[in-house]
Amino acid sequence: MKMIESVYQANTYIADLKNKGKTIGLVPTLGGLHSGHQLLMQKAREENDITLISIFLNPMQFRKKQFDAYPSDFEQDKRVAKATQVDMIFHPTVKEMFPFVEQIDDFFKYQENELIDRDREHFVREDKNGIDNLISVPANLVYRLDGTMHPWVFDGAATIVYKLFEVLQPHNAYFGEKDIQQLAILTNMAASYFPDITVIGVPTLRDADQLAFSSRNVLLSAEQRQSALSVYHALQHGEKLIREGESDTHIVLNAMKEIIKAQPLVQIDYIDIVEKGSLQSSKQIKGDTILYAAFFVKGIRLTDTLIVDL
Ligand code: PAF
Repeated sequence: MKMIESVYQANTYIADLKNKGKTIGLVPTLGGLHSGHQLLMQKAREENDITLISIFLNPMQFRKKQFDAYPSDFEQDKRVAKATQVDMIFHPTVKEMFPFVEQIDDFFKYQENELIDRDREHFVREDKNGIDNLISVPANLVYRLDGTMHPWVFDGAATIVYKLFEVLQPHNAYFGEKDIQQLAILTNMAASYFPDITVIGVPTLRDADQLAFSSRNVLLSAEQRQSALSVYHALQHGEKLIREGESDTHIVLNAMKEIIKAQPLVQIDYIDIVEKGSLQSSKQIKGDTILYAAFFVKGIRLTDTLIVDL
């Protein structure tokens, strides 16, 4: 397994693979690798000659406190990647990816300025705030689900994935369906700037107790983990109501909230029911639907998603 830290070295490595006519599958990650990531890597291995992963804790996607607390252990991540037979880990420094940002705290300043002008329908790419190729996600994709509360998180994800696509030039890139809005945004971002790259969504992997795998799960005590599961139970209950014929969004949403509210350790950050294609909510549930919740368990933010294909 090769380890590359610099963009320059990555360019050489990729050029060689392209010369040899190899197909490249990429799994971008923030580190903290778990079985959910392994599923993405396995899929990349099945569908490509070469599997690359990136491990980069992207400051654009976090508030300072969350950034500092993110559970990452590079040695452990390397073991997981090796066990999954990854060919190369791209592990750049912040300076390598954002050469014009002077210090890391600069990233956190811009997050307060959440109401930036953004195009309704089109991605915009510009050099701004010291960030080259900063991508602003269009309003019709970002002001949905919990993007309404922190749109900058998605600008951050789109920007770093844009940069990774430029450097690593994959044929296919793999992302979890758990982060359904991110998946929709990155699919559209790729269509706008990288028409040759296919973005592939991989279904959510759950642990034996059914909690969706997440890097932050390691921060939960047994009791907190049990409480976090109530959110999945709520989503499952919502699905059951919909499958039984309930089409009133308000009724299904309230039934889900009641289940979660019974858990004192869980605090809902955002919960909604939206149409699968547009990510828009409407009063009536019709067609394929996404049940989505973002929540805190003792300050640890988690999300869960359930897709109801009708
Ligand atoms: O979902 C993630 O892990 C991150 O948002 C991603 C796609 C790696 C970009 O930093």
